[in-house]
Amino acid sequence: MTRQKFDRGGKEGMNFDFDRPVDRRGTYSLKWDLYKGRDVIPLWVADMDFPVSPAIVEALHAHVDHGIFGYTLVPDTLVDVVVARMAARYGWEIDPEWVVWLPGLVTGINVACRAVGDPGNEVVTTVPIYPPFLSAPKHAARRIITVPLVERDGCWHLDPETLEGVLTPATRLLLLCSPHNPTGRVFTRQELLSLAAICERHDLVICSDEIHCELVLDEEKEHLPTAVLSPEIEKRTITLMAPSKTFNIPGLGCSFAIIAERELRRKFVAAMAGIVPHVNALGYTAALAAYRDGRSWHEAILEYLRKNRDCVEALVGEMPGLSMHHVEATYLAWIDTRQTGLDNAVATFEEAGAGLSDGRYFGTEGFVRLNFGCPRPLLREALQRMNAAISAQEGSRKGPSRSTDDNGADRWD
Ligand SMILES: Cc1ncc(COP(=O)(O)O)c(C=O)c1O
Repeated sequence: MTRQKFDRGGKEGMNFDFDRPVDRRGTYSLKWDLYKGRDVIPLWVADMDFPVSPAIVEALHAHVDHGIFGYTLVPDTLVDVVVARMAARYGWEIDPEWVVWLPGLVTGINVACRAVGDPGNEVVTTVPIYPPFLSAPKHAARRIITVPLVERDGCWHLDPETLEGVLTPATRLLLLCSPHNPTGRVFTRQELLSLAAICERHDLVICSDEIHCELVLDEEKEHLPTAVLSPEIEKRTITLMAPSKTFNIPGLGCSFAIIAERELRRKFVAAMAGIVPHVNALGYTAALAAYRDGRSWHEAILEYLRKNRDCVEALVGEMPGLSMHHVEATYLAWIDTRQTGLDNAVATFEEAGAGLSDGRYFGTEGFVRLNFGCPRPLLREALQRMNAAISAQEGSRKGPSRSTDDNGADRWD
């Protein structure tokens, strides 16, 4: 019944009102409570300010009305839906046994670091990167090696040559984020193949965090799971996925790893023993509803995020000293502030009423990350505040040569 009601795709999917603000204050929202009592629009941690698909709300209501919340097994239907989704989206034939359920994706990154190699070994990753990639190896008593992405032709790229150059016999694991947080890159087959070839040559396991795989905004681009590159690569890959970013349910904690190779899977599951809890009952319910019945909402949110992305790219491009590359996926913009002359861009923007993430936590100074997963009027207001802060700073550096009006005031309305 639910399926017929919600999973029709097409036109009615465009009727969600994502412009409508929802007040999240007083709901213990991590994103909003950081600035409790202050007029700061939060554009930091990666959740979105949109109500979820009605299909998810209805499924959760039905579950809550049942009134019992005991230990819960993964629903067979959810496993079937995940298996079918991998086949339909990526042509990836997976065995249901390969799927390991997790209460969070960061848990999966940390478990992977413990499961592969031994204490004292090295884990390699690229920077900038989602901060838990930098802390997880340390939690597992591994050494972290980082290799910067390179900027070329107006785009962020992996740098396989440099990466191969830093590997040692003690390097056991590559942590890859694909699509990439924070740059929003969707890596091409060729880029992934170059990286995978290095992992084969040096016998590295790949932990591929693909949590943003269903948030590809560019219509001509497609996500390619690392494990799909070849059967050999599949054997050395731990793929991490979740419905949480796409369907805006990160507070419900339901993620999964796909691990084809039996021994690697055994080690992963062994590293979870006794410390990783089960997925909670409502998390499974929401995940199933999202994947099975959330198609029209998903299509609509991609459409909306595409326009938010365009808005951010246009307006950031007009702000003196700021620049960014095109965001192919995710709802995150990685903004270069190095030409602004600001010592602390995050503090300046926060003072002006826009709360962003500091690039330094992503392993790269001089950048900020902006989460554009919010109603567009709020996004515009935040960008306007950033522009005012930057223009004031420019004005005090160079005199009154540029004002907000120079940008065309109506673009900011
Ligand atoms: C690349 C990446 N991995 C993992 C996570 C978080 O996953 P979880 O909340 O399931 O631990 C995020 C959240 O922003 C992310 O961007």
